[in-house]
Amino acid sequence: MKVLVIGGTGMVGSHVVQELRARDVDVYVLTRSMEKAEQLPTGVKGVVGDLLKPDTVRSVFGGVDGVFLLNAVSTTEAHEGLMAVNGARMADVDRIVYLSVHDVDHAPHLPHFGAKLPVEMAIQESGIDYTILRPNNFFQNDLWSKEALLQYGVYPQPIGTVGLSRVDVRDIAEAAALALTTDGHAGATYNLVGPEVLTGPDSAARWSDALGKPITYGGDDLDAWEQQALQFLPPFMVFDFRLMYAFFQERGLKATDDDVARLTDLLGRPPRRFEDFARETAQQWQG
Ligand SMILES: NC(=O)c1ccc[n+]([C@@H]2O[C@H](COP(=O)([O-])OP(=O)(O)OC[C@H]3O[C@@H](n4cnc5c(N)ncnc54)[C@H](OP(=O)(O)O)[C@@H]3O)[C@@H](O)[C@H]2O)c1
Repeated sequence: MKVLVIGGTGMVGSHVVQELRARDVDVYVLTRSMEKAEQLPTGVKGVVGDLLKPDTVRSVFGGVDGVFLLNAVSTTEAHEGLMAVNGARMADVDRIVYLSVHDVDHAPHLPHFGAKLPVEMAIQESGIDYTILRPNNFFQNDLWSKEALLQYGVYPQPIGTVGLSRVDVRDIAEAAALALTTDGHAGATYNLVGPEVLTGPDSAARWSDALGKPITYGGDDLDAWEQQALQFLPPFMVFDFRLMYAFFQERGLKATDDDVARLTDLLGRPPRRFEDFARETAQQWQG
């Protein structure tokens, strides 16, 4: 089986590549960078191209059986997603697995949530066997907070006190590989979630246990978060993520028992726990 992984050089996609290789799939990765194409794991073939370029979209899907599609958070996200769906349609691929986001339909005003709705719709109308994965907030987002956690003892993501059913990227990748390589997932939408609801203070407490030192929640002040974030993220992204945090603070992003049960069935085991992720990560950071 030949699968094209779009986003295969990034956080989720690189884990999807590993999971597919572990299942003996012939994996191709689309990347805009020749350098990244040359650094892919052994046995993975890089294809240099860009979803914004019609030539890429016309050529890269040829001879592919399955596609894993994610689109980076960008001002052209919906366009890139629709370009990919058209490429997959023109090449008659058998199966597509798309990475959307949990509760996308409850927050279509958030630019990087709303951008996914037309792509989901185009996939559903494409005639291609599809599976839509809607993940919650990633555990691995906290890797960006290494300095705040280790040096300042602060958990800085202002996710609020309603709570999120945060999920491990490795579970997302495993779910994607299963949807691409096993039967019974055509037309399905899975919410990909963790086993517990975590608030900002809960996340801080888990980090405190894992690191063996006090970690406090940075609080819900979005003005303060924005000031900090503008130092390392582009303004369009800070604007978008600020709205997302406001939504999290007001409504949360919580799984139902049924979401957890369906994911447990899909994976054949319960989803990973945040405390285990935090402990493993703390061990790596502390050598
Ligand atoms: N973080 C969360 O908590 C969370 C939760 C739910 C959903 N999501 C969704 O997850 C997605 C991001 O996943 P990620 O964190 O794995 O992304 P990432 O690490 O930022 O990687 C982005 C990938 O997209 C590729 N890419 C970017 N522009 C491209 C283009 N024009 N043509 C082809 N490839 C392109 C990049 O490839 P090159 O750079 O190699 O070209 C890279 O492989 C977003 O849609 C986000 O909304 C995130």
